[in-house]
Amino acid sequence: MGNNFDMVAKTLYGFEDLLETELNRLGAINVKKGIRSVTFQGDKGFMYKANLCLRTAIKILKPIQSFNIRNEEDLYARIYKMPWENYLTHYNTFAIDATVHSDVFTHSKYMALKTKDAIADKFRNTQGKRPNVDIKFPDLRIHIHIQKNHCTVSLDSSGNSLHKRGYKTATNIAPINEVLAAGMIMLSGWDGQCDFLDPMCGSGTIPVEAAMIACNIPPNINRKEFAFEKWPDFDEDLFDKIIESSLKKTREFHHKIYGYDKAPSAVRKAIANVKNANLSDYISIEDQNFFRSEKITEEKLHILFNPPYGERLAIDMEEFYASIGDTLKQEYPNTDAWFITSNLEALKHVGLRPSRKIKLFNGPQESKLVKYEIYSGSKKAKFNR
Ligand SMILES: C[S@@+](CC[C@H](N)C(=O)[O-])C[C@H]1O[C@@H](n2cnc3c(N)ncnc32)[C@H](O)[C@@H]1O
Repeated sequence: MGNNFDMVAKTLYGFEDLLETELNRLGAINVKKGIRSVTFQGDKGFMYKANLCLRTAIKILKPIQSFNIRNEEDLYARIYKMPWENYLTHYNTFAIDATVHSDVFTHSKYMALKTKDAIADKFRNTQGKRPNVDIKFPDLRIHIHIQKNHCTVSLDSSGNSLHKRGYKTATNIAPINEVLAAGMIMLSGWDGQCDFLDPMCGSGTIPVEAAMIACNIPPNINRKEFAFEKWPDFDEDLFDKIIESSLKKTREFHHKIYGYDKAPSAVRKAIANVKNANLSDYISIEDQNFFRSEKITEEKLHILFNPPYGERLAIDMEEFYASIGDTLKQEYPNTDAWFITSNLEALKHVGLRPSRKIKLFNGPQESKLVKYEIYSGSKKAKFNR
């Protein structure tokens, strides 16, 4: 296919396999896993689809040139030579992001500044006027990736990180990243074939992501804007067709998703976010203390949540995590329970033996996604205390 080009989808630590599978299912070509990224090929329509439909991508980059550099002057000269008039005019705005993994070049901000200077000087020298920089809402976001002495220049087709799905207008104090939430649900293997509960749902991120997975709704259907919509070659009809065809692939979901929180303010926010996502038919948010709750179904239940870590929320973590374990084993038979925490000390107090432990990062914090299998008869539960 002549119109295919290279792209890079960036993701979070531990989600490379999930993203590779998502890309293959979506129809990408030459899919190859990297570190926190997956490279692939597709055409313009596929780039729109990738931004709209990938649950575990945080950005889709379109590399336009790569070269080796020995010093900052090389970078300036190579950037200066590029045909920026194909992507920008002097009345547009632009911004540069730089990631640098190199012993030679250590200051990503300086490399971004050199790139900005080269582009601005090129316009000033050839057209007498230069485009301005707008860090927040640029018309074109350019990404510089420097690995040792190799530089890749890409156009950022997403803009704001793709975890900004557009449904979350109300947030609580410790909301989880939407990409992390979706990836954890996918890692946990929930396939929409039983009820789902987030017993400490905060602003409702996990229930919303779960419902979108269950119904196969494109995760970014509510997003206000993608960077590619400002590109000179943006094809609005094509994007509309991609949206329409992606929405045709939604499916029925015959179970229920529940979100509990004991804080009434969190409950209000979660209800508002579920409504924003148009998912009120599938999700029930309830004002409930998990430790005083009991299982609502005799059927299999899938639990996934992120309890407080104890950093921002001042409570006795050992007791709190012991209560999680007690509640699960006393009130939640026939349940697969997963949660993520970076509090490894508190985790020891759950009092159940995890059947899986997966290393992830919640923001900068190294964390564990743990699984506890609670069987039907309490005697079968895997106790270790
Ligand atoms: C880390 S936050 C969850 C964030 C959520 N995933 C989000 O995206 O907004 C933990 C939540 O647990 C709630 N919580 C703490 N103890 C609880 C309990 N015993 N029962 C129910 N909710 C509880 C807090 O009110 C808080 O909203």
